[in-house]
Amino acid sequence: MKTIQSVAPEAKTFCDIFSGTGTVANQALKYYDKVIINDLLYSNQIIYQAFFAEGEFDNNKLENIIESFNIAETNNSNWFSENYGDKYFAMPVAKKIGYIREQIDLLKDELTEKEYSILLASLIYSIDRLANTVGHFEAYIKKSIEKTELTMTLISAQSYANSEIYRTDANQLARQIHSDIVYIDPPYNSRQYSRFYHVYETLIKWDKPELFGVARKPAPENMSDYCSSKAVDAFRDLIEHLNAKYIVVSYNNTYNSRSKSSQNKITLGQIQHILESKGETHILTQKYNAFNAGKTDLANHMEYLFVTKIH
Ligand SMILES: C[S@@+](CC[C@H](N)C(=O)[O-])C[C@H]1O[C@@H](n2cnc3c(N)ncnc32)[C@H](O)[C@@H]1O
Repeated sequence: MKTIQSVAPEAKTFCDIFSGTGTVANQALKYYDKVIINDLLYSNQIIYQAFFAEGEFDNNKLENIIESFNIAETNNSNWFSENYGDKYFAMPVAKKIGYIREQIDLLKDELTEKEYSILLASLIYSIDRLANTVGHFEAYIKKSIEKTELTMTLISAQSYANSEIYRTDANQLARQIHSDIVYIDPPYNSRQYSRFYHVYETLIKWDKPELFGVARKPAPENMSDYCSSKAVDAFRDLIEHLNAKYIVVSYNNTYNSRSKSSQNKITLGQIQHILESKGETHILTQKYNAFNAGKTDLANHMEYLFVTKIH
């Protein structure tokens, strides 16, 4: 964030157009007059609304609600436990998650929009470390599940008058907004986030879809062009349509990775070429510790930050 501020000191507005976990947006909210936060995922949108949206909420009221969830007896099965119990979560945990999800909707009329989002985001944060996975919902670990108790805790939410939240395809949003700085950190490999995090997407939408296969996934939704052979065209189109003074692109060079699904869909050269057509472009580099299970040769692994000042 400091780097971005030093190259664009006069900027007043910031857009994090592929916000992911929201860590960049979280910092930007402290510095800029307006911060646009966007991601395709339903679960991310709820998390941004909970942590960042402007809105009224009463922490005591929410603590009491969560306490009532925590002490409730939840032996009955429900949609969530029937589909994910003893798979992604231990059965008692899955029963509790399904129960809490139903209760949050039953309480909706008594909650502000902000409070509703805070409860849902608190549920996701509370169950994340209980999932019987290696971090995403591609497959569950086929051994007995140790984590069998869920205690929900309240996230610590803020209300920011300078936040603006979207759940829109980045290329569509580019056509609708103006921002002094647009920060771009798209997916660079073929791993679709909506497929990896399908359980959270389903938990938030709560539309109880038909699920398929061993991984219990719903029909595909929100598939990103950036994870396909259309990635370069999508990136070019995005840059072309942005209405900004500065474009900052974050890029991790996993191109030499041996696993096909983690190879980059856009090369460094392609990014540079596309950005140079829009304005004067500088590249900043930093050594980067990629997640690496020992299968990949990432000796020269770098994180790049492209900064383009628009003509
Ligand atoms: C590499 S992550 C962003 C990481 C983020 N900078 C952070 O600090 O967590 C890419 C994000 O882009 C989202 N995404 C993928 N395709 C998208 C699209 N076409 N429009 C908007 N968001 C998209 C994914 O859901 C994912 O959360």
